Order: sequence, then C-alpha cells, then structure tokens
Amino acid sequence: MAHINDNFIKIPATYLFSEIAKRVTQHKEAHPEANIIRMGIGDVSLPLPDAAVDAIIKAAEEQRHAETFRGYGPEQGYAFLRDAIVANDYAARGLDINADEIFVSDGAKSDTGNIGDIFSVNNRVAITDPSYPVYVDTNAMGGRAGDPNEQNVWSNLVYLPCNAENNFVPQLPTEKVDIIYLCYPNNPTGTTLTHSQLQVWVDYAKANNIIILFDAAYEAFITEENVPRSIYEIDGAKEVAIEFRSFSKTAGFTGTRCAYTVVPKQLFAFASNGEKIALNALWNRRHSTKFNGTSYVVQRAAEATYTPEGKKQVKELIAFYTENARIIRQALQKAGYTVFGGVNAPYVWAKAPEGMSSWEYFDFLLNEKNIVTTPGAGFGLSGEGFVRFSAFSSREATIEAMKRLEK
Ligand code: MLT
Repeated sequence: MAHINDNFIKIPATYLFSEIAKRVTQHKEAHPEANIIRMGIGDVSLPLPDAAVDAIIKAAEEQRHAETFRGYGPEQGYAFLRDAIVANDYAARGLDINADEIFVSDGAKSDTGNIGDIFSVNNRVAITDPSYPVYVDTNAMGGRAGDPNEQNVWSNLVYLPCNAENNFVPQLPTEKVDIIYLCYPNNPTGTTLTHSQLQVWVDYAKANNIIILFDAAYEAFITEENVPRSIYEIDGAKEVAIEFRSFSKTAGFTGTRCAYTVVPKQLFAFASNGEKIALNALWNRRHSTKFNGTSYVVQRAAEATYTPEGKKQVKELIAFYTENARIIRQALQKAGYTVFGGVNAPYVWAKAPEGMSSWEYFDFLLNEKNIVTTPGAGFGLSGEGFVRFSAFSSREATIEAMKRLEK
C-alpha cells in the first residue's frame, strides 16, 4: 500500500496564486465583457529585452547545427553565465563571490522551495509575516512547519510580524531558531531594510549559528542608496547567508525562466553527529541530482542581459515598472488609502477600507472594479486587512485602474 506525504493534506488545497487565478477565471466566465486589469501576481507585461531575444534566436540557430549543438550542460549553469553574474552582480559592487558559488536554475520560486532539501526536518524556521507563500508551504510539505490552526498559523514556525507599528522591520526572534527567511525588497509589502538593519540580522545569525535564506528577487527595483542590493554587502554575511536572485522581474523572464542561488563556500551547518558540513557541496549534490540545468538557449538570453545594450534595456524595463509603482502609490494616497512600499519594489501594500478583510476587499475590487489584486491575508496573518497591488501592468492599465479606484 502506497502512503502519501501526510504534510500535503495539512496545507491549503490550493496555492495562493492558483486560487486567485481560479476566482479571476470564474469572474471572467460570468462577465465575459469585463475589462479586467491584472495587478495580482507579479507577472511582467512588457516583452523580453531585444538583447535577450536576439541571444535566444542565435542560440536556437546554434542548436540546429551539429558543430554548435549542445545537449546536457553543467547542472550548475554554463561558465559564460556564472562568470557574467559574478562580474556584474558582485565584482562590480566590490563583492567577492566566485563562479563556483553560483547555481543557475529555472527560478527563485523553485530554489527557495527546494533549498529545504538540504536542511534537517528538526530545524526551527522563522519567517517574516507576511511573506511569499512558498516559504511556508514548502516547509509545511517538508514537515518542518508542524500543524496549522484554523487561521493557517503553523505550530512549529516562528512568525516575525512586519506591520505599520514596527515600520515593517521585523524584531529578532525571542525563541531559538535555526533558519530565517528574509526577502528584501520585500514581497509582499514592498518595504526594505537598510544596511544597518540587515547587519543586525547577520550579526544575530553569526552569533547563533543560524542560516539566513535571503530572497533578493526584487533587488533591481532598489532606488534608495542605503538599501543593500545583496546581503553580501553586509559584513559577515558570507558565513551565514544563501542568496536567491532571479531574472524574472529584472529582465522579464517570468515565462522564460532563469534564476540563480549563491551558496558561499564559507557557509556551514551541522550534521546530527555535530560535524560541520559545507552547504555549497551539499547544494551542489542536490542540484546536480535533481536538476539537469537551465536550457542553453535561456542561459544565453540571461547572459545577454549583462551586455551594454542588454543592461540599458533592462534599466528601461525597471524604470517603467517603477514609474507604475509611483503612479499606484500616489493615486492610492490621493484617494485616502494608507500605503506602503512601491519605492524600492514593484509592489504597493495598501490598507483595505475600515472593516473590510483582505479577501472581502479583493472580491470587491474584482467584482465591482474589475481589478485583480492579491489579498494580504494570503501572505500570512499579519497581511490581514491589506491588499497588494503589483506594478507590472501596462501603463494604460495602471492609469485606468487608478481612475476606477478614484471613483
Ligand atoms: C508574486 O506575485 O508574489 C510573485 O510573482 C510570485 C512568484 O514570483 O512566484
């Protein structure tokens, strides 16, 4: 008799963004004439940068000829991309990261979810609340989260509330934890930590043998000087942090799929017998066993985003969405909403009108205004009473949505 992983029956039956997609489809079926504006999942609307498309075409052509055809590539990513990442995302900022500390993948969603494979089920995990649902769901699947209550608060997770009262700066845990997820610029609140605020976390992790899983998928949207783009800008971070980066939001790769994870060689955790084990070797083992590499064509596209023309085009994409975020933020404020984020991130976190829950307000916006958002409660208990607006729509749709809200 085959048995399932029981943890799967504890988690909500549907992933947050699948649930939203389902509600939107139902609404569309009931109102085929509705002009729905999608500001829910952070999916980009602008096409890929020309440099990336040209690289895809060139690489596809190479695949047509025996002399240039490539089959399996290195699981960790081709040297041309890992070297470009090191040179542009780290060395250019004075950060000492080596190519063999970079693991190219098909997405930060996969990596932040899969990283749990190399950690014991006995680790106590802390997450900021609200947070990207993948952190909670995958720890629940892996058996580290314990049991959920009726509000979907898990017994073994340590929640670090981030709210207006603490200015969205999480407090250090008051109980012992082993792993901490931090995402900055933050999804979903769009808020950030400064260098000195992040230094507190790195120092704490170092003093307590904690591993920080740092999701930096939105670093390209940082506009303010005092906000670190990489956790490795912080002293001591290479001894405590794994960093996740993605080409999805930066260069429009949500459908093309490419990301990378940095596991520094100085990073260690402990076996149950107390032995100190290097996480780089462990992740390499996991990655090369369960993953056969991002496709050659896609890696060439990612590489092209680091060429001079690629960088210019990526900058234009980011500037476009950043302006959308400014428009959303300003319009919501003008309409009397309390808003956060949207300055260093493509997400604006808005308080629902008094007395309305996140899901009620989500439904109102969908049914009455034909605007899709993401209910804050879907990101955790501290997200209750908020909705998230994503800035990835077209300019026209963004302006139209804000007009609908003014009314
Ligand atoms: C989001 O909307 O939170 C993200 O787009 C989801 C993701 O990156 O998987």
